[in-house]
Amino acid sequence: PKGLILVGGLGTQLRPLTLSKPKALIEFGNKPLLLHFIEALVRAGVNEVVLAINYRAEIMRGFLDEYQDRFGIQITCMQEDEPLGTAGPIALAHERGLLGDSEPFFVINCDVACDFNLRSLYTLHKAHGKLGTIMVTRVDQPAKYGKSVVQAHTTGLIERFVEHGRTFAGAARVPARPLLAPRDLINAGVYIFSPSLVERLRVVRAVSMEREVLPQLASEQQLYSMALEGYWMNVKQPRDFLQGHALYLQYLSRVAADQLTGAACSQLHGGTEVQGSVLVDKSAQIGANCLIGPDVSVGPGCVVEEGVRLARCILLRNVRVAAHSTVLDSILGWESSVGCWTRIEGVTVLGEDVHVGGEIFINGGLVLPHKRIKESISEPQIIL
Ligand code: GDD
Repeated sequence: PKGLILVGGLGTQLRPLTLSKPKALIEFGNKPLLLHFIEALVRAGVNEVVLAINYRAEIMRGFLDEYQDRFGIQITCMQEDEPLGTAGPIALAHERGLLGDSEPFFVINCDVACDFNLRSLYTLHKAHGKLGTIMVTRVDQPAKYGKSVVQAHTTGLIERFVEHGRTFAGAARVPARPLLAPRDLINAGVYIFSPSLVERLRVVRAVSMEREVLPQLASEQQLYSMALEGYWMNVKQPRDFLQGHALYLQYLSRVAADQLTGAACSQLHGGTEVQGSVLVDKSAQIGANCLIGPDVSVGPGCVVEEGVRLARCILLRNVRVAAHSTVLDSILGWESSVGCWTRIEGVTVLGEDVHVGGEIFINGGLVLPHKRIKESISEPQIIL
């Protein structure tokens, strides 16, 4: 099979990070989001991937060359002249001969974090022989943040697909209950379709997967669902990105503990303690008497000095946190630094190359790239 990833636009909701890099290249658990999708596709036997992008595609080129070599696959960047929506890119890819016409193809939204099992999705799709199969997941109170609520028969056949018009405000997956109540299910943003789907999309225009294609397929009994077993999160906003990151690290600690750097880590100095799931790049340095975790990732080249407290946070490449500072529930962008005795919390996001002085308090600040912060920011706000 082949795979199409809906990379979409600039990811404005992840600003200020997306002022420096497209969303797909933001590191999630020390690995660009895009790489998580490509690895999942490769595991399912995909060797040709199409990235549907509606901004300047050349930013991605270096990464794509590296991934092509690493996985021995072909990656095509398909740029749209104007946004084609969530299904229009399928028609364009077909027109350019990128999807083939013999095998089903995967489609993935680029802002979901989950435990992909694309092989099972493929097997189920082949078994029922209809046009589409979507992954569904159960979230707490789907109506509240309301996106696609689906009604599925116990067989997995979707009776009705409803896309609510409201903004998606994030939804953590709740622990599994024995029976899936159909009203709790939402579209997880991961699909597989039979090649003949493209016959319905011949006109190249903006087409919505959720408002047009999926409801239509459901009404014709051509749409099946597969319930996602593991964690799932939409990560398009900082708070959800952090929550999805925590779920991802907890998942890693269950299934691939060797990828986590825990208490045994050689970089950890005397008196430093690790709690819960913590991912530290090999090239990062962590000083003595720190308390790190849970749900922390520390990127390449980071330096964390002594006595630092880190919890539920992400340090991207080359971040420096000086002694006795605390970083909670926040994302520190590439090349940024934090002075001594500073406290950062409340879903603060520092853009690239932001420098925060010593003895500062930041609560929920979104700080644009290249800023110097010399005064505390005690209420959530954007620092331009
Ligand atoms: N190439 C391209 N062109 N990609 C697009 C376009 C476009 O015009 N518009 C959106 N995308 C991409 C986005 O970047 C994202 O990866 C994906 O398509 C879905 O985008 P949104 O339209 O922002 O939807 P959403 O995230 O609010 O909701 C979607 O995902 C939910 C699960 O996370 C829907 O599919 C929901 O039904 C679903 O529940």
